[in-house]
Amino acid sequence: MTGKWPQKKGTIYLDAGNITRKKQAIDYAVSIIRRGGLVAFPTETVYGLGADALNPQAVLKIYKAKGRPADNPLIVHIARESELEQLVEEIPDDAYRLASKFWPGPLTLILKSTEKVPLETTAGLTTVAIRMPAHPLALELLEATKRPIAAPSANSSGRPSPTMAEHVLADLSGKVDAVIDGGSCRVGLESTVLDLTQKEPLILRPGAVTQEELAACLKKNVNQAVYQGDSPPPSPGMKYRHYAPRAPLFLVNGEKEDAVKAAIAALCQKFRRQGRKVALLVSAEHAPYHEADIIEILGSRDRPAELSRRLFMSLRLLDDTDAEVIIAEGYPEKGLGVALMNRLRKAAGENIICV
Ligand code: TXA
Ligand code: MG
Repeated sequence: MTGKWPQKKGTIYLDAGNITRKKQAIDYAVSIIRRGGLVAFPTETVYGLGADALNPQAVLKIYKAKGRPADNPLIVHIARESELEQLVEEIPDDAYRLASKFWPGPLTLILKSTEKVPLETTAGLTTVAIRMPAHPLALELLEATKRPIAAPSANSSGRPSPTMAEHVLADLSGKVDAVIDGGSCRVGLESTVLDLTQKEPLILRPGAVTQEELAACLKKNVNQAVYQGDSPPPSPGMKYRHYAPRAPLFLVNGEKEDAVKAAIAALCQKFRRQGRKVALLVSAEHAPYHEADIIEILGSRDRPAELSRRLFMSLRLLDDTDAEVIIAEGYPEKGLGVALMNRLRKAAGENIICV
């Protein structure tokens, strides 16, 4: 069976772009997951690294392949709302409301888990993260496997999340059994994670489903979790510094665009005088004002969806250059801009300059 598919350093490459091969690709992926193996697959947000969510041995392989800390739980993906019953103790009205509005889609709900969900999947927590992805290949895979699939983003821990199959292969070839190539991910940032086990709904990670949309759907207050290094964090994932590019990234942020532009130019000049190779990660509108060794254009400031879609790919592209320092432009933190800036802030760590 393997003979039919090309291998890339030990990982089978399942091209689902070809319609006649698509069903065969899914069938093959199903057989791998059912026997406890790992398959990376596209979702609308980012590529996921999937295993049978109810098989502890299979789930452990995910942590090993990614180099993921054992205390960081996984998201369980489902194709139908009816699957919730076996996975969670109770389904609050809020969950029904959100699921009917935003599923399939980039929203993950944290609910109280049943004993059916292995502790390996929840990293020992009594809650479980669940999401129904809005990608035809992901849904087909889930339907055909007839099992919930645990899947974190399919990157090595600490690398930007993968938005193309080639990103998955760059990080994980030889460590996963197969990858399904379904092209580029439409959203490009990971799902919104919403905790429904608190008194009030709490956003643990901002994503494409915004705080305003959640509050409007539930007709109640929705909070955004903050973590300032105190312990314990509201979500295990919050304490890990994700998306750190190889070169230090300086994020320049401010309400006045001209001030941001001027600050980026000044910082760039300073680093270049020090003899450092500088890369800029800026909008199409700002790019013409700058001079630098490398300029990566993220997209138009008027189109946050485009900026978000391209962010992780751009960080990977910059990682592949010989840039010694990266300076990135900040964006307004409203709507999707909240999620975009959350990822940029994580990439910057301490290096945030407000003007
Ligand atoms: O869009 C996405 O969510 C992608 C695609 C593949 O679905 N998946 C993804 O998974 O981003 P991952 O593992 O990279 O991020 C999951 C986040 C982590 O920050 C984790 O700590 C948090 O969700 N999480 C998972 N289960 C949790 C739980 N029971 N309580 C609190 N946080 C949880
Ligand atoms: Mg991740």
